[in-house]
Amino acid sequence: MSELEFRRHRRLRSTPSIRASVRETHVRKEDLIYPLFVLEGEKIKNEVPSMPGVYQRSLDLINEEVDEAVELGIESIILFGIPASKDAEGTCAYDHNGIVQSATRQIKERHPQLTVIADTCLCQFTDHGHCGVVENGEIINDESLDLLAKTAVSQAEAGADIIAPSNMMDGFVAAIRRGLDEAGYHNIPIMSYAVKYASAFYGPFRDAAHSSPQSGDRKTYQMDPANRREAFREAQSDVDEGADYLIVKPALSYLDIIRDVRDRHDLPVVAYNVSGEYSMIKAAAQNGWVDEKAIVMEKMTSMKRAGADIILTYFAKDVAKWLNEDK
Ligand code: PBG
Repeated sequence: MSELEFRRHRRLRSTPSIRASVRETHVRKEDLIYPLFVLEGEKIKNEVPSMPGVYQRSLDLINEEVDEAVELGIESIILFGIPASKDAEGTCAYDHNGIVQSATRQIKERHPQLTVIADTCLCQFTDHGHCGVVENGEIINDESLDLLAKTAVSQAEAGADIIAPSNMMDGFVAAIRRGLDEAGYHNIPIMSYAVKYASAFYGPFRDAAHSSPQSGDRKTYQMDPANRREAFREAQSDVDEGADYLIVKPALSYLDIIRDVRDRHDLPVVAYNVSGEYSMIKAAAQNGWVDEKAIVMEKMTSMKRAGADIILTYFAKDVAKWLNEDK
C-alpha cells in the first residue's frame, strides 16, 4: 500500500483553521454596494412584491434605512430614483430638485463619509420607459447623450461621489466624462455599466423602479446574452472613453464574462447581482428549499472568485450582518 502514489488534497481541508488559512477568496464589507429605491412623495414605504425585503421609500423614511446600513458597516450605496412625473425627455432625471439629487443631498449631509453612487439613466424618468430619446419608435443615440451628461452633472452638483451610467447608448462614457470635466468635476469617477446584457433577470427591478419600456424592448442597446466577444468590444470602448470602473451585469449567469473582463483590463470590476438573481434565491429561501445564508455567501464568493472586486447586491445588508456575526 505504501507504494501507491497519489496526492493527499484532504490534508489542507482537515480542520476549520487550516481551511481558513488556505482560503483563496474573501468577501468583505468594503466590497459591497447597497441599492436603494427612492420615491417622490411622503410617508411611503412599499415592499416590492417581486423582491421581498426590498422597499421603495420616500425621502422622509430613508434616513432610518441608511443609518442601519452604515451601522452594519456598508460603505457604499447606489440610488435609483422614481419620480412623481415622467415625460418624453425624462426632464426629472436632470432636475436640480429631482428625486436622486434631493436624496443625495439629504444622505450626504447626514453621512458625509458614505460613498453615494448615482445611477444615471433615463428609463425611470421617461414616459416611454426607454433609456434614451425616442423618435418614431427609434431610440436616438446622440441626442440621448446630451441628456445623460446633463443628468450626471446635476447628480455631481448634488454631491454624488460616483456616477454610474446604465443606459448603454454608444459614447455615453465619453459624453459624461466631458460633461463632468467641463463642469469642473474632474475628480468624480465614472462607474460604467460597460457590459450590460438584455436580460430577463431585470424583471423585478422594473417593478421596483417603474421602468419597463412601454413598447418594444431594450435589445437595440443592451447586449445579446449569447455574445462574449461583443463584451470585449463594449468594455474596451468604455476604457478608451475614460471609465474608472467596469460593471458586468447581470452577474451570476455571466461569471465567465466577469473573468474575461478581469483578465483583459486593469480597472476595478463590479459584479451587478441583479434583481432576478435576488428574487430567485428569496423565493426558494422563503419556501425553506435552500439555506439562504449559505447560498448567498456562496454566490458572493463565486462573484469574487470570478474576478469581481466589488459586488452590487440587494443582499448587501444581510451579507454585512452575516460577516459581523461570523467574526
Ligand atoms: C436602468 C437599470 C436597470 C437595472 C439597473 N439600472 C433595468 C433595465 O435596464 O431595464 C436592472 C437592475 C436589476 O435588475 O437589479 N437602465
